[in-house]
Amino acid sequence: MIRVLFNKKGGVGKSSLAVNFAAISANKGYRTLIIDLDTQCNSTAYLNAESIEPADNIADMFEQTITFHIRRKPAIEYCQATQIENLSIIAGSQRLAELESELHSRHKIYKLKEALASLSDDYDHVYIDTAPALNFFSLSALIAADRCLIPIDCDDFARQGLYSLQQKIDEIREDHNADLAIEGIIANQFMANAKLPQQIINELIDEGYPVLAQYISQSVKMRESHQAKRPLIDFAPKHKLTLSLVKLFEQLAH
Ligand SMILES: Nc1ncnc2c1ncn2[C@@H]1O[C@H](COP(=O)(O)OP(=O)(O)OP(=O)(O)O)[C@@H](O)[C@H]1O
Ligand SMILES: [Mg+2]
Repeated sequence: MIRVLFNKKGGVGKSSLAVNFAAISANKGYRTLIIDLDTQCNSTAYLNAESIEPADNIADMFEQTITFHIRRKPAIEYCQATQIENLSIIAGSQRLAELESELHSRHKIYKLKEALASLSDDYDHVYIDTAPALNFFSLSALIAADRCLIPIDCDDFARQGLYSLQQKIDEIREDHNADLAIEGIIANQFMANAKLPQQIINELIDEGYPVLAQYISQSVKMRESHQAKRPLIDFAPKHKLTLSLVKLFEQLAH
């Protein structure tokens, strides 16, 4: 199962959730891969995977599709083990930005899908972290994925962005990936004591958006786990935030 975390809005929890779901998946014994498609490389940093060989990251994988090689490296050779058992990563790179226009003009939009198809026997679950933009790479991810998870931070701007996001996903389904489903909207950084977040979520549900039943609350533990470079299932397995992430993970279809 290939899942992409996507929202054009920044700072809603795409990287935090991608890494934590991937780590929970690995912890449950699934062979899991995370792919960092954002030039900010936040999920790579979170998993402390920056120090791996420079020629083995996501930019190198894309670059070999536009340069002449006697031997193209298979996708599996870009997957690096992490400190978490069963969890590998294709690490992010700032160089993706330099490659974007050439990849786009040479119609390489299906290359990620092909790479993931070649990995289907190696991994049970794949999580893709994307940038806060509908660029070449997030489009590639939406074309390659089976499911899209959309985190929101429960404010009004997030709601305003959802309509155009849903339209875009409908377009991608129509043009490129008939199987792409919105698995759900994740209410992240939810503040149970304030009135507005619940009101916004109720309105979304009334409008027919598939908001997932388990909300993820705002907790400083998330930031502490980033700083420690350890996903929550490893850093604070019994914490309330971790338990809610595990519950949400279990609610997803596997
Ligand atoms: N549940 C949470 N509780 C507290 N802080 C959180 C929570 N989720 C995310 N954050 C914090 O919010 C910030 C943004 O989160 P994150 O980087 O995961 O979002 P993003 O959508 O990947 O951002 P970008 O669009 O820039 O890639 C981070 O500082 C992160 O620590
Ligand atoms: Mg991010």
